[in-house]
Amino acid sequence: MMLSLFLSSESTSHRMPPFVRKLFIALVLLVVYPALSRVSAAQAAPPMPSLLLGSAWYPEQWPESHWDADLALMEAAHLHVVRVGEFAWSRMEPAEGQYDLDWLGRAIRLAEKHHLAVVLGTPTDAPPAWLTSKYPDTLRVDENGRLAQHGGRRQFNYASPRYRLFCAQISDHLARRFGRDPDVIGWQIGNEYTDESFDPATRAQFQQWLQRRYGTLDALNEHWSTAYWSQTYDRWDEIPLVATGGNPGLLLEHRHFVTDTWRSFQRVQIDAIRKWADPRQFITTNIGGLAWSDHFDHYEITRDLDMASWDDYVGQGQLNPMRNGALHDFARGWKRAAFWVMETQPGSVNWAPISTTLNRGETRVMAWQAIGHGANAVLYWQWRSALNGQEQYHGTLVGPDGEPMPIYDEVRQTGGDFERAASALRGTQPVAQVAILESYDSRWAIDFQPHNHNYDELQVLLDWYRPIRQKGFTVDIMNASASIDGYKLVVAPALNVLSPELAAHLKAYVEQGGHLVLGPRSGMKDAYNSLNPERQPGPLVPALGGRVEQYYALDDAVPVSGILGSGTATIWAEQLSTQASDASVLLHYGKSNGWLDHQPAMMTRPLGKGTITYLGAILDANLMQTLTAWMIDGSRVQPEFGPLPEDVEVCRRVGAGRTIYILLNHGALPAGITLSAPMKDLLVDQPPQTTLTLASQGVAVLEEQAQPADR
Ligand code: GLA
Repeated sequence: MMLSLFLSSESTSHRMPPFVRKLFIALVLLVVYPALSRVSAAQAAPPMPSLLLGSAWYPEQWPESHWDADLALMEAAHLHVVRVGEFAWSRMEPAEGQYDLDWLGRAIRLAEKHHLAVVLGTPTDAPPAWLTSKYPDTLRVDENGRLAQHGGRRQFNYASPRYRLFCAQISDHLARRFGRDPDVIGWQIGNEYTDESFDPATRAQFQQWLQRRYGTLDALNEHWSTAYWSQTYDRWDEIPLVATGGNPGLLLEHRHFVTDTWRSFQRVQIDAIRKWADPRQFITTNIGGLAWSDHFDHYEITRDLDMASWDDYVGQGQLNPMRNGALHDFARGWKRAAFWVMETQPGSVNWAPISTTLNRGETRVMAWQAIGHGANAVLYWQWRSALNGQEQYHGTLVGPDGEPMPIYDEVRQTGGDFERAASALRGTQPVAQVAILESYDSRWAIDFQPHNHNYDELQVLLDWYRPIRQKGFTVDIMNASASIDGYKLVVAPALNVLSPELAAHLKAYVEQGGHLVLGPRSGMKDAYNSLNPERQPGPLVPALGGRVEQYYALDDAVPVSGILGSGTATIWAEQLSTQASDASVLLHYGKSNGWLDHQPAMMTRPLGKGTITYLGAILDANLMQTLTAWMIDGSRVQPEFGPLPEDVEVCRRVGAGRTIYILLNHGALPAGITLSAPMKDLLVDQPPQTTLTLASQGVAVLEEQAQPADR
């Protein structure tokens, strides 16, 4: 800011002879500016609270005269961060090469006045009309060959070199201007990477990408089994670019290509920003798609980012605490670190089939649930709706009149909570003894060929997650290839793609004392989405001492019983067989289709210092609970908290010598809770208690009291 003031001041630099002006600029750049910016950074950037509540704010949509009132209301609600800029390209660069960032600078200074830190978005999710009309090659082509047009957003082609050049230029201009701004704490690249392009130039890039990956067409033809249906390729340029239908090997590689292409799209902007940005400014992107079903690999995309962040929307209906908690754990697993909720709904959205509103208190519970699962910031989308534009009906904190909406008070209460609890939560994070493994390759491979349209991968994962969480255990959800040393129990609900390397990684964990439980469909495919020539679980057959003889898609429930109790299997059932003498069967099928009758459904085997277990069916909720008790006992997972009423969720954050428990009552009735030792609720002015009553949608943030030293 100061440099631009110096350089634009009429009374100084512009009246000087050119060589004096150059000298003056050099002096400012080399000596005065660094010194001043150090002073200003030191003065204007007090340590950030460790919990931040904030909002997306679009000053470009409003007359400047409204800004101060907006920001004052944010400050009054204890918001400490605003995200700005991510769709404002036509205001930042109104014509090609003509940049206007002064308005943004003024918005940031006003935010500073109201003690709000700023996350700056690069506007590359919404190119201006002048850009795409002058350079139509920057527009996206969908899978049906239709060219996108201006009038919405995401009309750009993510692989277009020309578009990337424009993205680099606008990012460069933003970072030169705000890269050392003390109030800008971080950057968001684009927004919710979503739509791929299928234009001829992108197809050529895909073919070149395949050539680099496979080296020879012989290798590609072999891995994809292209002798099937005469698909054999004789030239790289014969290979199609499709995302649906077709060869499973090609489909999986297209997802890898999409991941690499978004990653390089992002890289161009990271490089432009990092050239100028202060290292204290983080770089992230806002991952959308309800964090689950995107076309790219989140572990890969977040590799180049300083921090992960995602959008947490309920859409229609009420919060589903298990599903939402699992998605937070999944987001924490991308970088295995604290993350941000970059957007969440202030009550309602505008895009659900029925855009219902969260009940009173539920928006606050959602914010605390995010913190409980490892977020350090929660931002609402959005502050105030534009008077026109497609999202007029979306929930906001203030109305089009700039006055608070009913939800504002609840958000203000949450902001007050965050301020009270921030210092105790600083340096803490969830710490888990149990890990759930998943992989994009496996998910995509099953999505391409579900074999039973009722097979929903997120539901399958939640079937495993729910009973573990109901017992109060923290769960890490993470990439199957990540390090799993130290976890007492590792569950892999559906590792469909299982390479020899991944199998060796899992086997080593077991041999060193780990307890691994694999779910149905595991170990069917190799890394090229080709069938493993062994039966399931492929390279883990020798370790398991057994295998899957045949799999069956079910339309009716099948009875299951054994030492874990009796119940049913639905959707999917595999007939197992044991080969090793030390393998034992835990569950058998009852009378069914003849093939499954009385056959093993689940088996386990000791291996090295640990155990490997395979479940071949999707079990009902009761059996999953018994199975969970068996897994927890067998792997000696230690309790984290005492028993709780059914609707009360507990989240534990540990660190900096402290243990904090966040209790959330998702139920409709008040819940009485007895604690094993006195604990202080950081949200109320009361001494430590051993009992508490949590109202419906109530939140308590309990700090474990230090034990008196032994005498
Ligand atoms: C997404 C986008 C936002 C906005 C919200 C509305 O998450 O990132 O720009 O469209 O949805 O819910």
